[in-house]
Amino acid sequence: MCGIVGYVGKKNAENTLLEGLKRLEYRGYDSSGIAIVKNGKITSKKAVGKIINLENLLSGKNLDARIGISHTRWATHGKPTEENAHPHLSCDGNLAVVHNGIIENYQTLREELKKKGHKFLSQTDSEVLAHLIEEFYEKKDLKHAVCEALKLVEGTYGITAIANDNSDEIIAARKGSPLVLGIGDNENFIASDVAAILGYTKQVVYLNDGEIARVTKDNFEITDLDDRKIDCEISKIDWTLEESQRGGHDHFMLKEIMEQPRVIVDSTRGRLLPEEGTVRLGGLEDVEAKLRKIERIIIIACGTARYAGLIGEYMMEEYAEISVEVEFASEFRYRKPILDEKTAVLAVSQSGETADTLAAIREAKRKGALTLGIVNVVGSTIARETDAGVYNHAGPEIAVASTKAFTSQLVVLTLMAVLLGRQRKMSEVTGRRIIEEIETLPKKIEKILKSADKIKKLAKKYADYPNFMYLGRKYCFPLAEEGALKLKEISYIHSEGFAAGEMKHGSIALIDENFPVFAIAPKDSVYEKNISNIEEILARKGKIIILTTEGNKEAEKIADDVIYIPKTLEMLTPILGVVPLQLFAYYIASYKGLDVDKPRNLAKSVTVE
Ligand code: AGP
Repeated sequence: MCGIVGYVGKKNAENTLLEGLKRLEYRGYDSSGIAIVKNGKITSKKAVGKIINLENLLSGKNLDARIGISHTRWATHGKPTEENAHPHLSCDGNLAVVHNGIIENYQTLREELKKKGHKFLSQTDSEVLAHLIEEFYEKKDLKHAVCEALKLVEGTYGITAIANDNSDEIIAARKGSPLVLGIGDNENFIASDVAAILGYTKQVVYLNDGEIARVTKDNFEITDLDDRKIDCEISKIDWTLEESQRGGHDHFMLKEIMEQPRVIVDSTRGRLLPEEGTVRLGGLEDVEAKLRKIERIIIIACGTARYAGLIGEYMMEEYAEISVEVEFASEFRYRKPILDEKTAVLAVSQSGETADTLAAIREAKRKGALTLGIVNVVGSTIARETDAGVYNHAGPEIAVASTKAFTSQLVVLTLMAVLLGRQRKMSEVTGRRIIEEIETLPKKIEKILKSADKIKKLAKKYADYPNFMYLGRKYCFPLAEEGALKLKEISYIHSEGFAAGEMKHGSIALIDENFPVFAIAPKDSVYEKNISNIEEILARKGKIIILTTEGNKEAEKIADDVIYIPKTLEMLTPILGVVPLQLFAYYIASYKGLDVDKPRNLAKSVTVE
């Protein structure tokens, strides 16, 4: 998954492109490059590593162009090298292309192009596009050449292309990888997501799959690949540039952890109807009648989003009495899922671009299921391809490790459980009780955040252990898995989440004084069961951190360390319980001096399968 930025207008193109790439670096950062057009000539510069390396390469070059394209890469085909970095040029150097996606038939196309004399400089699938477009460029109509080339491509793409003798236009096209146009004053932008163009314009147009745009500094037109004009809608993005910056914190991740009280408010704004003991979810109103008939929900997601889905499963079974299954999106599409008109398939996805989740939704649609989405990025592909859905309104989540999106997903899942429950047997009193408790969550999270320094000290104490086990039951079992994922993905410490009751069936063999355990044991319906698991661990000299409810003094007698969270409903405990786990992982990774926002091997949104 890569980041693309294109610019045409009155400013210095390379400076604008570099600034945009820096804001997309979380999308992938093993190499980057730019290509500009000036005086009928294309100049391209590329560098391995982070974008600062490209910036250093360009400093002093003063390319002084007004049009260009650029790319930051997360390798899928070919190692991170300068040759494999984008842009890729045609043989004659008169065309440049950047690409995000996977060309599945690139080997065949490469062989055919080689037979026609094309010379390839990289091992990437993307370079095929530059030579394929060159094949169709004899009439010097760049858009036509791109259209004809893309008709031969199987797979996914978000691309931008420029040519030396079309020096006032950029061609952009998408199929499966996001692209957004930023509409400025006598300047226009193209980017993989809005973070790259925030601060220049708030007017954007999202390209849809199969669409291609010709963009100049004062105009843009969108058609399909057969040049049929497509009307488009200009959206106004409500994220300020500030929101996509760090807000004074050392890392985006810490900023986003600290934002969670506000995120709960934003995720519920205008949606709570306490006087009726129910909620209003505008994005589901068109399918409300269908939701009444639903007897089964399949939740599909990946990573953290899937752990949110697992908690949603408990909620909807307990409060809406609907049968729920949670599936790995990457597995769902290769099974033979039994879907019918009484089944809804719910995708949970922060980015709305995760390839596995998108593919699973498309499979569900092909089988006629009602498809729903819980998505954070407005206008993202999953949001637009599901029949209906609910936006998180959590604001841009820049850090690769998902935090505020997770708590927002849990809130929206709670709202959906109330909506579905109140369509069924949930009483007004129960609905109101849940809503009233949701309204207390921002203050309760703020209280937890005030103990961040205590968690920071705890993190330092445990930072050097090579392994960690997280345990939880019922609503807190998926929370244990999420806590483990947070730690492993940013600190690279081996950590696993287990169902507490499952531990004695094998995993307890791992326990010794070098394998600490984070036991999530709030005072809830399964507290006593958790305590007996903790006793088993202590008997084997295991070190224990207990996360429990305020006032539970018993915990201090048995644990090495205790973290308290305020009391709340059992179903809402994970929204509070995850905050200390996020901070614990964050401080350990920071203490170890790791790149918290851009951990090795990971990308923010995995738009490849
Ligand atoms: C979580 O911290 C990871 N970044 C990853 O597991 C992520 O949750 C997963 O890739 C799903 O992404 P999505 O929510 O954008 O679909």
